[in-house]
Amino acid sequence: MTDGTAAGAEAGALHQALVAALALQAEWGADEALEAAPIDRTALLARGGPATAPDARAARPEPPGPGPAPAPGPTRAPIPGPGAPPPAASRAAALADAAQDLAALREAIAAFDGSPLRETATNLVFADGAAESGLMLIGEAPGADEDRLGRPFVGQSGQLLDRMLASVGIRRETDFYITNILPWRPPGNRTPTDAEVLLFLPFLLRHIALIRPRLLVLLGGSSAKALLRSREGITRLRGRWHQVTLSDGIQLPALATLHPAYLLRTPAAKREAWADLLQLRRRIDGG
Ligand code: URA
Repeated sequence: MTDGTAAGAEAGALHQALVAALALQAEWGADEALEAAPIDRTALLARGGPATAPDARAARPEPPGPGPAPAPGPTRAPIPGPGAPPPAASRAAALADAAQDLAALREAIAAFDGSPLRETATNLVFADGAAESGLMLIGEAPGADEDRLGRPFVGQSGQLLDRMLASVGIRRETDFYITNILPWRPPGNRTPTDAEVLLFLPFLLRHIALIRPRLLVLLGGSSAKALLRSREGITRLRGRWHQVTLSDGIQLPALATLHPAYLLRTPAAKREAWADLLQLRRRIDGG
């Protein structure tokens, strides 16, 4: 209950965030402390406000494919090889560079015919959330629900991601923007190939440059390895802040974390994901 005043609304939002945090912990069966000292969530959420990321002009996934669940360890990392890029890659780079705003970038991706993924997908999945928030999350590729609705992270894992973030006061409507490496669903929800990641990387880098977030969150191995140009698996990359370098040399702090689809398959890993979330919240709060 709030009293209709600004203070009342703030108290209501704080209450909502605390309830979300408690609900998530109950859902996850949290029964042990992760941090050395207890966290005063009222203070934590009140400081930044549950719906704002002050340090940030400031970021949902799809259930795993029908096949066996991939481990979070090494998958196919995009390692640029020597030699000239194939024509489709040059066209992707030129189209991406020419896009001066988000609408133009979306159009350029929709028009790009260099990948067969466009032919098998139903809808382009561009992005969702608050472009001005300063926080940008990057997943792997749309799944069936995203392909059907044309929005990223609206399936089961996206809903989990939203609940996790809400538990630390970060909401899609106001506090984060989210996209994927691939804008088209790979058939059968398979993991993107290195070639697909490389082909669409110029569009993603341009997307990041146009959004110019203060902070990036890389969800899962494909995203982390592609943007960090790393061969390391997500279990080694997660939980740390890295730098993503854009084509103009600008560096952005990026937190690598586990993909929510992996968390759905591997509940024990939620412990690490929770630690990463707390780290993100602290950074947003200026810590
Ligand atoms: N998984 C992702 O990586 N992205 C989505 O949009 C949905 C599921």
